[in-house]
Amino acid sequence: MGEANGRRLVRLFPTFPVAIVVVGEGDASNPITLAMVHVFSFEPPMVGIGINQGRHSYDLLKELPEFVLALPRHTQATETLAAGSRSGRDGKKWPHVGLTPVPSKEVRPPSISECPVNLECRVVEEIETGDHVWFIGEIVAHTVEDGYAPDDAMTYWGGKFRKPGDVVLLRR
Ligand SMILES: Cc1cc2nc3c(=O)[nH]c(=O)nc-3n(C[C@H](O)[C@H](O)[C@H](O)COP(=O)(O)O)c2cc1C
Repeated sequence: MGEANGRRLVRLFPTFPVAIVVVGEGDASNPITLAMVHVFSFEPPMVGIGINQGRHSYDLLKELPEFVLALPRHTQATETLAAGSRSGRDGKKWPHVGLTPVPSKEVRPPSISECPVNLECRVVEEIETGDHVWFIGEIVAHTVEDGYAPDDAMTYWGGKFRKPGDVVLLRR
C-alpha cells in the first residue's frame, strides 16, 4: 500500500488528540508531540503512545521505560508544534519549545508546568506495529489543574491544530 497511501488513509479519520510526551530524565529529558495517543484500559488505567523508531524519544524510552503524557490547551498550539518540529538529538529542545519541565511525583521524566494535565506512566508493554512502536503505560500518578475540561484541550487533523468540536447528540 505504501506510506503515502497510509497517510491518505489516516485522513479518513476525523481528528486525533494531541499530546506532548516527556521522556528521559534530568538534562536529557525531551518533549515530543504525538497524535498517536489512546486510552488502552480503564482498570488499571493505561494509555498508549505510538512512536516512530527513528525518533530521539524512542531511544530515550528504550533506556528508561517511563513517560509523562501531558495534554496542552488549545491555546498552546505554538509550543506543541515546536515540540514536534525538531529533534532532541540536535540540542536541548526545552528552550525552543517555551515550556518548563518540573519534577513529577512518581516517575523520573519531568512533567510540564504549563500543561493542565500530566499523566505519569510506567511502560508495561511494547507492541511493534510497522513504522511505529506502541508503548503502553500504566498511569501511576497524575496532576490535573482545577477547572480543567477536555474542551480546553486540542486535537489535530489534516495538518491543523483544532479545538474539540460541537456536541451533536447526548448519549444519555
Ligand atoms: C501534530 C504532530 C503530531 C505528531 N505525531 C507523532 C506521532 O504520533 N508519533 C511520532 O513518532 N511522531 C509524531 N510527530 C513527529 C515528532 O513529534 C517529531 O518528529 C519530533 O521532532 C521528534 O522529536 P525527537 O527526535 O526529539 O523525539 C508528530 C508531530 C506533530 C507536529
